[in-house]
Amino acid sequence: MGTSREYRVGLVGYGGRARQLGQAWLGVSGAKLVAVADLKPDLRDKAQTELPDVAVYESHQAMLDQADLDIVTIGTTGYFHAAITHDTVAKGIRGIYCEKPMTCNLADADQMVNDCKEGGTVFVMGHQRRYHPSIIRLRDALRNGEIGRPAHGYMYWASGRVGSNGTHFFDALNFILDSQPVEVVGRVGRGLDLTKVEDHPVYNTRLVDDPGAMGFITYANGFRLALDCMNDVLLPYTYLFCGTKGRISVDDVTFEADYRARDADTRSHRDAWKPVPRREFGGTGPWVGYESEQGAYRDLIHCIETGDKPVSTVEDGRSVIETITAFHLSSDAGMKPVSLPLPPEVRNYPLKVH
Ligand SMILES: NC(=O)c1ccc[n+]([C@@H]2O[C@H](COP(=O)([O-])OP(=O)(O)OC[C@H]3O[C@@H](n4cnc5c(N)ncnc54)[C@H](O)[C@@H]3O)[C@@H](O)[C@H]2O)c1
Repeated sequence: MGTSREYRVGLVGYGGRARQLGQAWLGVSGAKLVAVADLKPDLRDKAQTELPDVAVYESHQAMLDQADLDIVTIGTTGYFHAAITHDTVAKGIRGIYCEKPMTCNLADADQMVNDCKEGGTVFVMGHQRRYHPSIIRLRDALRNGEIGRPAHGYMYWASGRVGSNGTHFFDALNFILDSQPVEVVGRVGRGLDLTKVEDHPVYNTRLVDDPGAMGFITYANGFRLALDCMNDVLLPYTYLFCGTKGRISVDDVTFEADYRARDADTRSHRDAWKPVPRREFGGTGPWVGYESEQGAYRDLIHCIETGDKPVSTVEDGRSVIETITAFHLSSDAGMKPVSLPLPPEVRNYPLKVH
């Protein structure tokens, strides 16, 4: 893609994930990583050693003041994202790529939506599945009627964390289904059940704050999804979509699909007794390097240049914070159904999400 200029990119954070986000920029033409900021001296030293041509700053404010940036990549944990977005928009910077989770409450997400709108800043939410060819293939399959009218499905994922992991999968589901949740029924389960799974210092701690969950999501288009990310799910992340013609299941590691479909749609319960033939489902493949993050970066540049809407918007990011909050609210209320959109009074419901 030709660009009108070489975009100057700054990176906030140089922890494990931010470092990867910086590496991903190195493979995108039309943009140059020119600045990194981290609060920790040891990570600033690391950045300077690994990226000798890049200017290193003690805070995002210092970087924004001095580095003459066009794009900011936010690679910190979600707690900091609203403040960094606010300061970036206030500087008139044209584009933001923001790592997940977007925020740790809906009020911060609302602030980010409003700041970007008022400042005219293009914001790409870093849910990289939207840029993965296999996820796009699934979205297209449902759009093209390859399973008929999508009706119901199931998703499970290991390592719990309805917030930290859920942010990726709730967003992927919104994208694939091309719809939004209108009701959530859920129960959350904190910590690890050591009678069923081995102890793990990181997961044990993280699942206390950000639990596993089970439940159901109903989407605006009528699709119903059963969900399980309780702490003893021990298989690769898996999606199953069923419709009036067939079904597709796919894992989120190899993306090898199991696709079964009739020759035609049916409305008859009696057809349910007949076997559904297995068919080829081409066009999926595993994760490749930073291909998806780079797709998101190119989308950000494209949208800055053209005024188009990104594939992964700030509103898309807000939507999954709402779904995660709804799981907690439903669980707090004893698995009571919770309707979305959520009312304003829960905007400050606190999520502990890494
Ligand atoms: N999308 C993915 O596949 C993926 C994979 C791994 C991690 N993540 C997410 O990435 C996020 C970061 O993860 P991590 O493990 O790198 O976290 P981390 O805590 O190790 O690193 C965050 C860094 O940001 C710095 N920071 C915070 N506020 C700052 C500010 N105002 N100015 C400058 N620096 C600031 C901190 O000093 C810290 O070094 C997490 O939210 C995590 O969930 C996403």
